[in-house]
Amino acid sequence: MARKVQFVETVLRDANQSLIATRLPYDKFEPMLPVIDKAGYYAAECWGGATFDVCLRYLHEDPWERLRKIRAAMPNTKLQMLLRGQNVLGYSHYPDDFVRLFVAKAVENGIDVIRIFDALNDVNNLKVAMEATVEAGAIASGTISYTTSPVHTHANYVKMVKELKEMGASTICIKDMAGIMGPQEAYDLVSAIKDAVDLPIDLHTHSTTGLAFMTYLKAVEAGVDIIDTAISPFSGGTSQPATETMAYALRQLGYQVDLDDTATKTMADYFKGVRDGYIADGTMMPKSMATDTQCLTYQVPGGMLSNLLSQLKQMNALDRFDEALLETPKVRKDLGYPPLVTPTSQMVGVQAVRNVLDGQRYKTVSKEIKAYCRGEYGRTPAPIDPEIQKQILGDEQPLTGRYADSLEPIVEPTRKKLEGIARSDEDVLSYIAFPNLAEKFFDERKQREENEVTYTIVEG
Ligand code: CO
Repeated sequence: MARKVQFVETVLRDANQSLIATRLPYDKFEPMLPVIDKAGYYAAECWGGATFDVCLRYLHEDPWERLRKIRAAMPNTKLQMLLRGQNVLGYSHYPDDFVRLFVAKAVENGIDVIRIFDALNDVNNLKVAMEATVEAGAIASGTISYTTSPVHTHANYVKMVKELKEMGASTICIKDMAGIMGPQEAYDLVSAIKDAVDLPIDLHTHSTTGLAFMTYLKAVEAGVDIIDTAISPFSGGTSQPATETMAYALRQLGYQVDLDDTATKTMADYFKGVRDGYIADGTMMPKSMATDTQCLTYQVPGGMLSNLLSQLKQMNALDRFDEALLETPKVRKDLGYPPLVTPTSQMVGVQAVRNVLDGQRYKTVSKEIKAYCRGEYGRTPAPIDPEIQKQILGDEQPLTGRYADSLEPIVEPTRKKLEGIARSDEDVLSYIAFPNLAEKFFDERKQREENEVTYTIVEG
């Protein structure tokens, strides 16, 4: 019998985030939810990552309400979210009580699969979120943030996968956020992991460098169970490879793909219209749809390259781009080869620009880099260069244990603080994650409701 390959549809989260900065409001995708629900996906990735932040910051949406509405419209498909381990959806570490309650509420509001990753691949930063996910009865997808460096060997990845299984992972995700994984690497890494554990493996990559289709194909040959794709109008470039294309090719090669072609056709027709709107208003830029092989040369994610450019532009120093680009891998090496993913990608990029513009390395250091050197982000893949660490920390001693152990519980004090303002634990969680945005959102919500009441009265 033909081996089955399953699909995760990313249009609602990663494709949306990678191509149009997560600006898709609920109303724009609502009509397609029943169609996606019928299409036969393993899961629909629809929450987490930047969606939470952007809902509050730009879309005037309650992220929790969005999740509940998606859940109601899609009763048959697993809903998946992306969670940054101890960082949850933010950029620094939170106390354990917040991580636990957040995970519990995400599952209660409709999430089935939580993909949990850490920017440094430090399993200590995954432990609490993994535990909470298993406790809540959801699928914990233990995730490797894929990168290349002298210390990121297959043996080390396999060791990590075994630890993830110990922690309760029921699937393993290889997350290649920069799209730098080539077909042979995919084949070898998937084979190595398949040999080590008997868990379903999901490969996540981006089309940025153009490798993705080939990478998926070789991963499937090596036994990968699930691949992440985006419906064609929202595929390619910094997003995922196209769902329909992968389905077509895999079927031709004799694999079983349980996707309903009528449903994916309806989705493609609909999202073409949505995409055209974003191209017309400039939200979707041709650059993000293009193939960019620079990432292969510099081993830095596409998003980082555009961040470097915009930083230099702000400082009127665009002519220093090449130097900043060359400095980036050096900073990464100094810092012990962190994978370049949120938030380490931003930290490394900013530092590289500083080193170049200051004309002296590590003369200015952000508070995030300082915290990183103190050990607040976790154990680095390789040790930080001791001289640079000393230069940055002075006499301060780096931390040895888990940083979150030093954090006081935050949920109960915040509940008290928000008495009369927060209407639910979900509100409390939004506030802890993004205090200023949540406060503004609560005000807007109240305002909106008062206006609605007036309106109803006038209408009589
Ligand atoms: Co991604």
